[in-house]
Amino acid sequence: MLEKNKKSRARKIPLGTLNIGPYAKKLILQTLNENRLSHGPLSARFENKFAKLHNRKFAIFTVSGTAALRMSLHALKRIYQWRDGEEVLVPAITFIATSNIVLQNNLRPIFVDVLPDTYNIDPKKIEEKITRKTRAIIPVHLYGLPADMEPIMAIAKKHKLKVIEDSCEAMLAKYRGRMVGSMGDLGCFSTYVAHIITTGVGGIVTTNNPEYAVRVKSLMNHGRDSIYLTIDDDNNLSRKSDKEIFKTVDRRFSFIDIGYSCRLTEMEAALGLEQLKYIKTNIRKRQKNAAYLAEGLKQFSYLIQLPIIPRDRDHVFLAFPIVMKDKLLERSKLLTHLEKHGIETRYMMPLLNQPIYKEIFGNLEPRYPVARYINKAGFYIACHHNLTKDDLDYILAIFEQAFQKLV
Ligand SMILES: Cc1ncc(COP(=O)(O)O)c(C=O)c1O
Repeated sequence: MLEKNKKSRARKIPLGTLNIGPYAKKLILQTLNENRLSHGPLSARFENKFAKLHNRKFAIFTVSGTAALRMSLHALKRIYQWRDGEEVLVPAITFIATSNIVLQNNLRPIFVDVLPDTYNIDPKKIEEKITRKTRAIIPVHLYGLPADMEPIMAIAKKHKLKVIEDSCEAMLAKYRGRMVGSMGDLGCFSTYVAHIITTGVGGIVTTNNPEYAVRVKSLMNHGRDSIYLTIDDDNNLSRKSDKEIFKTVDRRFSFIDIGYSCRLTEMEAALGLEQLKYIKTNIRKRQKNAAYLAEGLKQFSYLIQLPIIPRDRDHVFLAFPIVMKDKLLERSKLLTHLEKHGIETRYMMPLLNQPIYKEIFGNLEPRYPVARYINKAGFYIACHHNLTKDDLDYILAIFEQAFQKLV
């Protein structure tokens, strides 16, 4: 297998991929010809489709997954009048944005260790972190695998906590028959580069609660009064009564919150609309690729832990996570070998050992044994829908070579 691939030394296996097809181009040209860039019919169509796919009444398209999370938490804090310094539970393994947005809202992230097999928040370790100050939980569906939401929602109900699902790495994944982003009070998704769908930059908030939806829309528009959130709110104004016209004029430039400028354009919506056409096919391809990699690497399972998929949920494989099991081989050596052969890698979302977190929280790692282990031994590689069988065989050959050479 390796011989066949030797020629392709310069081959690149990047973590992400991108397709911009004729439908997206047609929509982009159409929006340019219509001289319309700000939130309009394409954004509304994208939001409606996304909401429907995830079984929610509302979806709000914004600039990033981080903005989606930050505004969702801001909305809850404002509506329920949480105070600065109150606490939000987050997993000890996640992309740093999950906990940064807690700090940015002047709240305190409290970390909960993760499960050693799925790498998602460990529901059994949540209650011991709950205090009088706890207000919310942000479970993360890491790498496309839903967190164990049923016990999480039961704990949230018992302690009257709000739940924001950080679904930035998962879309259209079901857990016990329910879609990610439809189980918590709000769900937050990312359409940034290398995500399940990619619109360059982008994020989506989903919810069934109209008050949350309006508040998030207001926050992304500088905290503007909900009477005027897009230029379409002016439509048919001249046909309204004098009283109605003046009500709009009076409140159009009125701000009810300290908001953000987090709006996208019709062009990102055009990219998103095309990608929603292919999302199911692409997820199936990701799952097939992951299964192929897992089968090929099974022979090394004494050295590495491969992805685990509990029977009650889908894994949509944003990436292919691996944890080194054994001290026979150092992660640094394996990753150097993979990168030397063009296979892009990342560490498995280490959080507690980040320089800035050590500065803020001190040395937390010893209290989180699973996260500490993953910080040392975890990483991920690509399994996206544009990888060919040849690419997958190449990845397997390079792993095989590494284990032969290095162990
Ligand atoms: C778990 C998680 N949360 C939040 C984000 C932030 O999303 P964005 O990059 O769109 O701001 C990411 C991004 O990769 C993520 O993986």
